[in-house]
Amino acid sequence: MPLKKAVIPAAGLGTRFLPATKTVPKELLPIVDKPILLYVVEEAIAAGIEDIVIVAGRNKNAIEDFFDRSYELEDTLYKTGKTELLKVVKDIQEMVQVISIRQKEAKGLGHAVYTAKPVVGDQPFAVLLGDEIMIATDGPNVTAQLHQAFEKSGASTVAVMEVPNSDVHKYGIVAVDDTEADLMKVHSVVEKPAAEEAPSRLALPGRYVFSSSLFDHIEALPPGKNGEIQLTDAMTHQAQNQGLFATRFVAKRYDAGDKLGYLQANIELGLQHPQVGQDLKLYLKNLKL
Ligand code: G1P
Repeated sequence: MPLKKAVIPAAGLGTRFLPATKTVPKELLPIVDKPILLYVVEEAIAAGIEDIVIVAGRNKNAIEDFFDRSYELEDTLYKTGKTELLKVVKDIQEMVQVISIRQKEAKGLGHAVYTAKPVVGDQPFAVLLGDEIMIATDGPNVTAQLHQAFEKSGASTVAVMEVPNSDVHKYGIVAVDDTEADLMKVHSVVEKPAAEEAPSRLALPGRYVFSSSLFDHIEALPPGKNGEIQLTDAMTHQAQNQGLFATRFVAKRYDAGDKLGYLQANIELGLQHPQVGQDLKLYLKNLKL
């Protein structure tokens, strides 16, 4: 089945970036000159996604505005002959159909994904977390890699990466038979376990392709860890009913929702930036630490 829809949950309060995120959604914080969210949206588009559902919360109108027209800005860029910038601004509005949904209460990631059900319907869909940047240097991007794996497995398939023991408490962790298989059959998923209770060190970095039965499992869930409707709990139910697979991915990942990850993304992607890359490299070389 073709994969045409993607859900990007972007409803978190961004507390790790306060006070910056008091008025600016963390998904719109820039990596040099491009918001984190635009990297995520571009990944979805390059993987063939046609409809993108962004699930935002209150005080996140700036996300909707970002994908809308901006008449005054466009007019000024046009009149001042800044045609390249005008193109950058216009391309964003034309790149894809963005559907905006509001999660009225912060009830957890599973609940945020569930709010997209009326748009997704009974088709398979991708979920891309709005603060995770994945850069595949050559070959298909992570969502495209997952789509290929989904076609092979015939069931929901999610990306995993190996993390050190000290980090398993930050992620959803999968329990699988064979950690070396290309497509690992998942038995269950544990949300942020303590290191001694983790079933593996294979963590979910925030890229998923689900069949629509996931919605039925979310609907039936009681609140889980931290009193939230956890996506990982619904994944366990799907694993035990329709099946769920995990696969490793090839890409550089930046956790841009974390202060250090955000700075690393700015430095590394800044070094590749056509305007400032060379100067930044020189600056870093000469920096006395
Ligand atoms: C969420 C998910 C978790 C996943 C993580 C990836 O947690 O609940 O399963 O591993 O994203 O970043 P959060 O980081 O929002 O607390």
